[in-house]
Amino acid sequence: MTRKANLITPYGGTLVNLVVDAEERQQLLERLPALPSIKISQRAVHDLELLAVGGFSPLKTFMGKADYERVLHEMRLSDGTLWPLPITLTADPRELPQVGKELVLRNALNEPLAILRLEEVFSWDPQKEALLAYGTTDPRHPMVSEMVNWGKVCISGELKVINLPKYYDFVELRRTPREVRALLEEMGNDNVVAFQTRNPLHRIHEELTKRAAAKVNGSLLIHPVVGMTKPGDVDHYTRVRIYKVLVEKYYDKSRTLLSLLPLAMRMAGPKEALLHAIIRRNYGANHFIVGRDHAGPGKDSTGKPFYGPYEAQEMMRKYEHELGVHMIPFEELVYLPDEDRYLEASEVPAGARTLNISGTQVREEYLTNGKLLPEWFTRPETAQILRKMYPPRHEQGFCVWFTGLSGAGKSATAQALTEMLLERGRTVTLLDGDVIRTHLSKGLGFSKEDRDTNILRIGFVASEIVRHGGVVICSAISPYRAARNEARKMVGENFIMVYMDTPIEICEQRDVKGLYARARKALAEGHPMGFTGVDDPYEPPIDPEITLQGYGTTPEENARKIIAYLEEKGYLLPE
Ligand code: ADX
Repeated sequence: MTRKANLITPYGGTLVNLVVDAEERQQLLERLPALPSIKISQRAVHDLELLAVGGFSPLKTFMGKADYERVLHEMRLSDGTLWPLPITLTADPRELPQVGKELVLRNALNEPLAILRLEEVFSWDPQKEALLAYGTTDPRHPMVSEMVNWGKVCISGELKVINLPKYYDFVELRRTPREVRALLEEMGNDNVVAFQTRNPLHRIHEELTKRAAAKVNGSLLIHPVVGMTKPGDVDHYTRVRIYKVLVEKYYDKSRTLLSLLPLAMRMAGPKEALLHAIIRRNYGANHFIVGRDHAGPGKDSTGKPFYGPYEAQEMMRKYEHELGVHMIPFEELVYLPDEDRYLEASEVPAGARTLNISGTQVREEYLTNGKLLPEWFTRPETAQILRKMYPPRHEQGFCVWFTGLSGAGKSATAQALTEMLLERGRTVTLLDGDVIRTHLSKGLGFSKEDRDTNILRIGFVASEIVRHGGVVICSAISPYRAARNEARKMVGENFIMVYMDTPIEICEQRDVKGLYARARKALAEGHPMGFTGVDDPYEPPIDPEITLQGYGTTPEENARKIIAYLEEKGYLLPE
């Protein structure tokens, strides 16, 4: 392989380091209180970390205008160096000091990370960046939908990093490029092939990585992204637990290194493959695996993939010599059950039986139904970890949210449902609106604002219960659609809205708590209470999962209907 003299070589080479030494850090910390500061996004924190440790070498700071524009149009920095995607820091211009002054960059917890000497402030256009960098303005692209929320201007200038982001998870696997290089050097191989991933490792990936290591006759750097990946991906805690077990049990440890990469992915397909290769070069690899649909963002709003499945390979092929990172390409691998082996799709003999399980099938066919993934597809250790983190629906938490007028029959039905679920052996929390107002929402009144606050508090508690695998039944009038939708968003998928559709006349006639009479009287006397159905609106839900009538039937019968629904949807195992 040819390597140009000015390129960073796998071992040694020039790596940027923006982290100041202890003495300078002390001086900077003393000056900190007098400086203006801004909070930066999670993505910017990850970018800052890679700039600081040299993962983005030769970049020394967030891009200024000249680099930014040339990268957008030509994939090159202003000095001509190949660089595929913008790395920018955006801000609200109203929060910035004058150009020439210093500015503290803080994370979401307000901790100071770096000082930036403001040298450039320039406006940018999300639509233009979307089109030039990502080839689309379709908001289905995760980067495009994210960008519209960024600051109006980009800022750049000399960076001094005082604190790297602090991590408490998998600390032993978090290493700087220098540390990774040192370990690779100890392994003693001239060649290093890096593997990028944002997914659990299945047998296919094991095949790719082992074949690649054998092909280059060198070391393997398993380098999963643990910064930001595609929304909806398996969380990194679960993934890293899988990587650890697999490397321990199934890889040749004398030439395999597992290390975590705090990158915020862009899901930019081919251009992202180039960025990945540059980063891996900085971490000491001279070969890089690119398979099918590398860093693919999925499909656009017309159902077409944003990038072709092998576009990333074409892009890498064009630039690998300039990059000094040689591509190890793979076609899609498929399993041949009759021969018990994996083959690249084009090598499969005509008529041979093949098997494959897609990511969607993993979730929807296997995990949701509590089915263990087969051994030809994934190692049993991986299957177990995934099964535990993504339990089948009947082991997941869920929220049944009752809405309806006062006296519509919510509480009685909720009570019956609670007991039936307890009988089934589920842990249940009942959050009744009236009871909630005696503690969690004590002091809140019945103005629209207070009512919304009440619902959001119930929604927050409900979301935590569901996240921990419990069942929560919420019973509150919850008259406003927007607040109910917020609660639904907080809880997520496992949210079942039950609309108690009982006409106001019936509720008022029952008037179990005497509230309608009080509200009517107050209204007649000229000081309205703002009581739902009397002098405050009730907005019926548009698409409740279940609609019940709170009259002409018993709470028990209604609760049984809900149980039947829960069984049908898999939240409860039928008895
Ligand atoms: S990525 O966004 O990080 O690229 P993923 O973790 O799924 O996603 O893929 C990691 C690498 O493995 C990429 O180079 C990808 O192209 C490759 N890869 C994943 N699945 C397959 C497959 N079935 N066949 C060939 N290559 C694959």
